[in-house]
Amino acid sequence: MHTAIIMDGNGRWAAARNLDRQAGHRAGVRAVHAVVRAAARCGVDTLTLYAFSSDNWHRPRAEVEALFGLLRRYLIAETDRCISDSIRLNFIGRRERLTAPLLRQLEHSERLTAGGRRMHLRIAVDYSSRRSIIEAGRQLQGAPLAEMTDFLALLGAADHSDPAAPAVDLLIRTGGERRLSDFLLWECAYAELYFVDCLWPDFDETAFATALEEYARRQRRFGRIAAPSAAATTAGQA
Ligand code: FPP
Repeated sequence: MHTAIIMDGNGRWAAARNLDRQAGHRAGVRAVHAVVRAAARCGVDTLTLYAFSSDNWHRPRAEVEALFGLLRRYLIAETDRCISDSIRLNFIGRRERLTAPLLRQLEHSERLTAGGRRMHLRIAVDYSSRRSIIEAGRQLQGAPLAEMTDFLALLGAADHSDPAAPAVDLLIRTGGERRLSDFLLWECAYAELYFVDCLWPDFDETAFATALEEYARRQRRFGRIAAPSAAATTAGQA
């Protein structure tokens, strides 16, 4: 199962406490810890977290630097734990605009955790789905697609996803907004969407479990008609 999360609401969480936005992002990292462990325990195979969109470059420089600093410290603190939990860390998005220390650390963490088989943890940084789709389309070079999954492989290559990820099954967005914000647009074609008002720093293991329970209740049809339930079949035959 592939779960993707738009972690929204750090700023509002901080403002409600008269704290600066950076404090909100620090609290957001604590939620990342909790949700990564919960996802691995719940049998999620791929977890993609939206940490920094390509449009986030328009935020004040101090906030961008603080976010990159948090990410780097997260990796320094968490890489060993990922190795022992068999979690493969991977960064998707553009790399050429990242700072040298962050890039060094993320490539180091990717190398050290490459053997992880329990869960593929993808963190999207300087990520734009529309850009990835354009890049993958360019790689097609006019060749027709044999299978839809072939395009997922091209997107994986465009994003530095190693391995490429399957389509998203469940997309969670915290913070009350109901939009995709240029995140995994192709991969979410048939994703179940789960929007929740809870601000990201308050999103914990229980909130994650609630999202999975809601997902389990959804009926996924992929454009087909619903299979009749056992009860309906019996009634039809009577
Ligand atoms: C959106 O909230 C959140 C972000 C742009 C950053 C997300 C980053 C983290 C949770 C911390 C670092 C990540 C990892 C993986 C260690 P917002 O700032 O837009 O909140 P607002 O809408 O309330 O202003």
